[in-house]
Amino acid sequence: MSKVQVIHTAEELQQFRQKLNENAHSLGFVPTMGALHNGHVSLIKKSTEENDYTLISIFVNPKQFNNSEDLKQYPRTLSADLTQLEGLNNCVVFAPDEAELYPQNDGFVPMELGSTGNVLEGAFRPGHFEGVVHVVHNLFRLVAANKAYFGQKDFQQLAIIRLLTRFYGFKTTIIACPTVREASGLAMSSRNMRLNEKELQDALIIIETLRFVESAKNKRTISETLASAKNSFNAGNLSLEYLAIVDPETLCELKDWQENQICCIAAHCGSVRLIDNLLF
Ligand code: PAF
Repeated sequence: MSKVQVIHTAEELQQFRQKLNENAHSLGFVPTMGALHNGHVSLIKKSTEENDYTLISIFVNPKQFNNSEDLKQYPRTLSADLTQLEGLNNCVVFAPDEAELYPQNDGFVPMELGSTGNVLEGAFRPGHFEGVVHVVHNLFRLVAANKAYFGQKDFQQLAIIRLLTRFYGFKTTIIACPTVREASGLAMSSRNMRLNEKELQDALIIIETLRFVESAKNKRTISETLASAKNSFNAGNLSLEYLAIVDPETLCELKDWQENQICCIAAHCGSVRLIDNLLF
């Protein structure tokens, strides 16, 4: 099977981009931190269906980790990732180092994240979204893709990426893709690699809780539903950070059910922090 081409520098990337422009080829972009799983593969597949070429970036972005131990433990599996991508046509990997992606005086001007950045993940991981905005800004500027693909598992990140795209005036169209789950219901995540067999079982309480909340819609009040869901959750082996039912646009917590809401959860399973959500 043919190996996927890997680009390491911004200069090589610019040359690659220029060739696509000269041939009027469209480019889809899938930014990742590596440790690729079927969730990433579904984004890549969608991009290959919709674009002439697809660029997959693999970069563990230190700026978005508010916890140094989490950064240290984050899986780095570049050679396995490249093996997984073998045989994909018209796909190129961009695997820069930190200096390449964050040159001195990179011209990045931070944006105000407002309430979208302060709640949920923003409240529990200070500085996380600032780091995401910085790296995605630098990547978008270099890659200049026609479309970029993001998973709905990181729902708040997706909202922030839409904001930054508008704020900085990028021409890239943001495509949201559904969360991919294991047969067990566990949302796919690079972090799942760090769970042992027992933790993989324990973690199912996340999707069970989300499904319980969905089933209570319009039958019990939101506050009763959350109280009961938290009670059951806390009887399991995970440690809950938040469970919230919010408006999908504003991410403000809801007091009453509405036509569409999203239930978001974050919890620690052993030393691994997991997030998930369900839109209903
Ligand atoms: O979702 C991720 O994997 C990361 O947050 C992203 C968008 C690649 C930025 O580092």
